[in-house]
Amino acid sequence: MAENNDAHARIKTLRREIEEHNRRYYEETAPTISDREYDKLYQELVDLEQKFPQFATEESPTRRVGGKPLKQFGQITHRVPMLSLDNTYSEEELREFYARIKRLLPNREIPVVIEPKVDGVAVSLLYENGTLRYAATRGDGSTGDDITQNVLTIRSVPRRLKGKAPAVFEVRGEIFMEKRGFEKLNADRTEQGLPRFANPRNAAAGSLKQLDPSIVATRPLGIVFYGTGAHEGLALDKHSEFFPLLEKFGLPHSERWWTATSADEITGAIHELDKVRHGFLYQTDGAVVKVDSFAQRQRLGFTSKSPRWAIAFKYEAERVETKLRDILIQVGRTGVLTPVAVLDPVLVSGSTVGRATLHNEEELARKDIRIGDSVIIEKAGEVIPAVIGVRTDLRTGGEKKFPMPTKCPECGSKVIKDPAQVAVRCVNAQCPAQVRRRIEHFASRGAMDIEGLGEVMVGQLVATGAVRDVSDIYQLDAAKLSQLERTGEKSIGNLLEAIERSKTRPLWRLIFALGILHVGETSSRGLANHFQSLRGLMDATPEELQRIPDVGEVVGTSIHQFFHEPHNRELIARLEKAGVRPKIEPRIIASDSPFTETTWVITGTLSQPRDEIAEMITSRGGKVSGSVSKKTTYVLAGEEAGSKLEKANQFGVKVVGEKEFRRMIEK
Ligand code: IVH
Repeated sequence: MAENNDAHARIKTLRREIEEHNRRYYEETAPTISDREYDKLYQELVDLEQKFPQFATEESPTRRVGGKPLKQFGQITHRVPMLSLDNTYSEEELREFYARIKRLLPNREIPVVIEPKVDGVAVSLLYENGTLRYAATRGDGSTGDDITQNVLTIRSVPRRLKGKAPAVFEVRGEIFMEKRGFEKLNADRTEQGLPRFANPRNAAAGSLKQLDPSIVATRPLGIVFYGTGAHEGLALDKHSEFFPLLEKFGLPHSERWWTATSADEITGAIHELDKVRHGFLYQTDGAVVKVDSFAQRQRLGFTSKSPRWAIAFKYEAERVETKLRDILIQVGRTGVLTPVAVLDPVLVSGSTVGRATLHNEEELARKDIRIGDSVIIEKAGEVIPAVIGVRTDLRTGGEKKFPMPTKCPECGSKVIKDPAQVAVRCVNAQCPAQVRRRIEHFASRGAMDIEGLGEVMVGQLVATGAVRDVSDIYQLDAAKLSQLERTGEKSIGNLLEAIERSKTRPLWRLIFALGILHVGETSSRGLANHFQSLRGLMDATPEELQRIPDVGEVVGTSIHQFFHEPHNRELIARLEKAGVRPKIEPRIIASDSPFTETTWVITGTLSQPRDEIAEMITSRGGKVSGSVSKKTTYVLAGEEAGSKLEKANQFGVKVVGEKEFRRMIEK
């Protein structure tokens, strides 16, 4: 009896905790425990519910798949539910999985496919007659968010399939953030005072939740397809035929996959994958083992939550121990001081690690990290190595605490602690480290895009005094550049040309390049669009600034302060004098656009490819859909428009021809 009561209490606690972690994971995309810890809680609940079936209920998180769909997006009901997979960390259980299916299908050979488990966000894309109709998140497994516009910003997602497409093709995959792009995104966010993403999966999920596709477009997202949902007009007998099919359609899949017909071969493939997976663009957290034959899959069937024909094997995040030799301070573009661990180099998850970020003062204190400690390094998500803990049991007493400096290690100026943030900043705008980082940022690909002006070159230019601020870039000439190390005539010529070309970049790039605190790429675009000139922006009052979408009080104040620093105004005057004349792009006024909140269906033959036309519509605030319904605002009908035109007439939807469409665009 007592045991029953204890079990019931524990079950209830576990359910509550798991619900809370689900909410953090799916809705806030900010988990507070590792996958491993989550899986442990989950398994404990599964075990208890099995042992005490009297306490099982339909409401338990073990009976459901994921999080609730968001309210802001439209909802899509999946034609075939999106299930999840059972997972295991043990080879023993993996062997048991294969033994079980062999018991269920006796006397047969059962080939399986082993492929990477991509650590991203599950999506389902529906292609009808080769055209993308929608993209949806998994949501609760039966209904997900309509994220079509966001998914269309991913370059590797085709709007149209190549080759002869089937009538219906629902294809499922995982959207990921590239490992390298993720690190850069986080570095930028730190500089802008925004919270960091915990890992690439969260960054991908956070990106896809943006209601503004133009933000999503700036994120380095990719996709890997791994399975089908509903399909018509497609002859497919087994999963291994799926890969060449994807290739034919121009849909990306994982670069490696294996087949196996025994437990030994399965574990062999899993070890091989573990060796190569660190070289992939995306993060992987395991392997998925699936029965190849669809006929065999059908015979094996499903449990309420997952298929019996597949299992996910998860790799343990690799942890190693090493010595923390020293702590250095790195000074960023806006003066943020970041403590960095200098480690005895060790091999973790396929690469040698000698440095690891310690994030900030609070992290240091929370983990009580001291110089000389034996520390545990984890390349969680194999991305940036992090110090996750200290072997306090190995302390000798000689370890030294690291006080955050009260002076900037680069320039000796005093540092201040931002009350709103955990960051400590160097207040000297002329600090050489800040100057270098500002110039690097100004010239970077996402800003003024001056090829050849990278870290090493900037370091030399600042060290020799040739460049003191970004306006000096435009005073460089062949004579000055030839004094630097490792510069040939050709590279000098190229650099000078690149500098020249940067003078007429779009205005938003210049605004972004100035590195104003809290002003990222999206707000820069908004500001350029609104003010249409740098002078207009410079003279704006904080109140005026705050009326612009995406600019709140903090951002508005920061912009106002920046342009009211006399030396920043002088800097701009020097840039103008040097011939920097940013290109002013035509203004897009969201509420005035005839496209705002309209839904379009494009049909028939038009003078331009459909994806370009679709982009013209979406960039003006409209939506593009693949099928005509009562909610469609316009049908753009080219020549030989067929059933969609008929449907438009049937529903009384306004039909426009290409000429009229062009007139609307010109408005
Ligand atoms: S197959 C019936 N293959 O992992 C479900 N899933 O934990 C079939 N995932 O929901 C899924 N890589 O979001 C499959 N190569 C892969 C995968 C993969 C990542 C994700 C997917 C799935 C989750 C299950």
